[in-house]
Amino acid sequence: MNLLENRLAVITGAASGIGEASANLFAENGAKVLAFDLDDSIIEKFKDNNSITGFKLDIASSSAPEIISNTIQEVLGGLDILMNNAGVVSGSPIEEMQDEEWDKVFAVNVEATIKITRCSLPYLKKSKFGRIINIGSIMSSLGDAGLSAYAASKHAVAGLTKSIAAEVGPAGITANYIQPGAIMTGMTREAFKVNEYKDFWTNRSAVKRLGQPIDIAKGALFLASDLGEFVSGHGLVVDGGALVAGSW
Ligand SMILES: NC(=O)c1ccc[n+]([C@@H]2O[C@H](COP(=O)([O-])OP(=O)(O)OC[C@H]3O[C@@H](n4cnc5c(N)ncnc54)[C@H](O)[C@@H]3O)[C@@H](O)[C@H]2O)c1
Repeated sequence: MNLLENRLAVITGAASGIGEASANLFAENGAKVLAFDLDDSIIEKFKDNNSITGFKLDIASSSAPEIISNTIQEVLGGLDILMNNAGVVSGSPIEEMQDEEWDKVFAVNVEATIKITRCSLPYLKKSKFGRIINIGSIMSSLGDAGLSAYAASKHAVAGLTKSIAAEVGPAGITANYIQPGAIMTGMTREAFKVNEYKDFWTNRSAVKRLGQPIDIAKGALFLASDLGEFVSGHGLVVDGGALVAGSW
């Protein structure tokens, strides 16, 4: 399939997990991808891939929006698809949580998403095709003990995306967010080594398995391609049925 032929895409947090799988799937479908990550491995990972350029960057740094804008111009020369994927999780009960922890979760999951969207919009408007895909979570609709900062940040991603969709629709741009369920990635690998936790999430899903990064990448491909043309302001749940099959 070549669902993204000649499309130009930026993906953040692409050295691992969902971002890496999405960069590879987008490239296999004909897109040229600019992939950002904090981790050094982003350079080595894609160095032999002609369709993906890796760039090391802390997306929460104050200089990130300007660097991203300049790099889009230099490497891609335009932009059709922005996937705000990089994210961090924290797991502290509210009484124990340090201010720095809350600030970091919001700086990466929310503020960087807003700022990168803002600096990408001039390119997306010129494209007359633009797609914004933000990565939320099933925690964009739920809460859980110990996850207040993370769940609040992912609720913010939902509200942000819906409002952006209303603003940018007239320019021919769609904005959606994906709500992954439990996916085996760098973020969750340690936690899923605990059998009880792994079994809990496996059994919560209707299809009785954990998700893999490619499951979310396929949802992103749908939203990024012509197939998702009339979908905007939507939170696409990709969780193997956990939200509806589990008793929450
Ligand atoms: N894994 C899950 O079960 C799950 C569920 C719901 C939502 N999500 C969301 O999916 C997204 C991708 O996470 P993942 O599960 O693939 O985890 P991951 O840890 O495998 O990948 C996240 C990537 O983001 C990068 N990153 C973190 N902070 C950054 C920063 N400041 N600047 C640049 N890069 C940064 C990391 O280095 C990492 O490569 C996140 O937004 C996460 O909240 C994951």
